[in-house]
Amino acid sequence: MEQTPTVAPMIDLSRKEDGTSSKETFSKDVAEGLSQFPKSLPSRYFYDAAGSKLFQDIMALPEYYLTRCEFKVLTDNRQEIARQFAASGFFHLIDLGAGDALKTKILLRELSQQKSEFDYVPVDISGDAMQQLTDSLQQEMPSVDVQAVVGEYFPALEWLQENKAERKVVLFLGSNIGNFKADESRHFLQRICSNLSSGDKLLMGIDLRKDPDTILSAYNDASGVTAEFNLNLLRRINRELGGEFDVEQFRHYPIYNPHEGVMRSFLVSKKEQDVYIRDTGQTFHFDAWEAIHTENSHKYSLQQVSELGKACGFSVETVFQDEACSFADVLFTVA
Ligand code: TRP
Repeated sequence: MEQTPTVAPMIDLSRKEDGTSSKETFSKDVAEGLSQFPKSLPSRYFYDAAGSKLFQDIMALPEYYLTRCEFKVLTDNRQEIARQFAASGFFHLIDLGAGDALKTKILLRELSQQKSEFDYVPVDISGDAMQQLTDSLQQEMPSVDVQAVVGEYFPALEWLQENKAERKVVLFLGSNIGNFKADESRHFLQRICSNLSSGDKLLMGIDLRKDPDTILSAYNDASGVTAEFNLNLLRRINRELGGEFDVEQFRHYPIYNPHEGVMRSFLVSKKEQDVYIRDTGQTFHFDAWEAIHTENSHKYSLQQVSELGKACGFSVETVFQDEACSFADVLFTVA
C-alpha cells in the first residue's frame, strides 16, 4: 500500500517578539555572566555549528555512556513504550530538543511498524537540525507525518495548545532535565504539565547516580573532546561577539559532587588576564585560577525522580531502565 508523506512546512517560532536579535541576547547574557561573581556562562550557547559537531563527537566517546545507555533502554523496550504511547488512539509526539533524533527514530520506527496513529512534532532551536531531520525522515520513514517546529520549548507547547483536545506525548530525552537548577527543573515540568491534559504522557531520560569515577570520566574524556567542547564557548564568543579570549590560557575542569549528585564543568583561567569583548564594549578581568561555571548535570535517584514528577502533577507509569548503565527513561502520566 502506498502512503503519501505529509511533510508540512516548518513552523518558525524562534523570532523574538521584542525585536532583539539572538546576537544581542547572546552579547547581553555573556556580559552579565562575566560581570558576576562567581562568573558563569549559560550552557545554551554551547551548541553553535562547531559545538553541535563536538557534542556529536562526545556522544561517540567510550567514556560518554549516557547516549549509548539511553539508546539501549529505548531499543530494549521499544515495543512496550510504543504500545503505551498509542494505547488511547491518535496522539502528537512532541520531541523537545530533538536534534538529529537518533534515539527518537527507534520509537518512530516501532510506532510506524505497530501502525500507531500519531504525528511527530520535533522541536529544536536549530533550524538547520530541523530541516535535516524533516528531510531524513521523509527518506527513511515516509509514512510518518512530520511537523517540525523551530523555537524554544514553551512557545512550541503553547502553539500545540491550540489543539487542546488532542492527546499529547512529550519526549524529553538525553537527561537534559539534569542541566537545570533544582527549582528550574520543577518550574519546567510544571509548565509542561500545564500545557497537557489528564492522561497525556511524558517520557523523560534520566541519568541515575552511579560510581563517581564513571560520571567524572564521561565529562573528562582522555582524548580531550569534552575540553574542546567546553572551550568552544570562548571560541564562539571570539567568533560572534569579537571576543579576544586566548583560549590556550583557559582549561576545562570538571568536578563531581556525590553528595549533591551534581557534575559541574568550569573553564579556569590559567593566569591573571583581561579579556576585551568588542560587542559588549567591556573588558573582563580574570584573577589567576578564577573559574567560569558553564554547566551542571544532575544525577538522580529513582526516588528523587518520582518525587520531582509528583510535585509537578505527574505520576510514574513505568520506569524503563538499564541496570548495568544505571540510566532510566521514565514514563509519566498527567494525573
Ligand atoms: N547536557 C550534556 C550533559 O550534561 C552536555 C555535556 C556533555 C556537557 N559533556 C559536557 C556540558 C561537558 C558541559 C561540559 O551530559
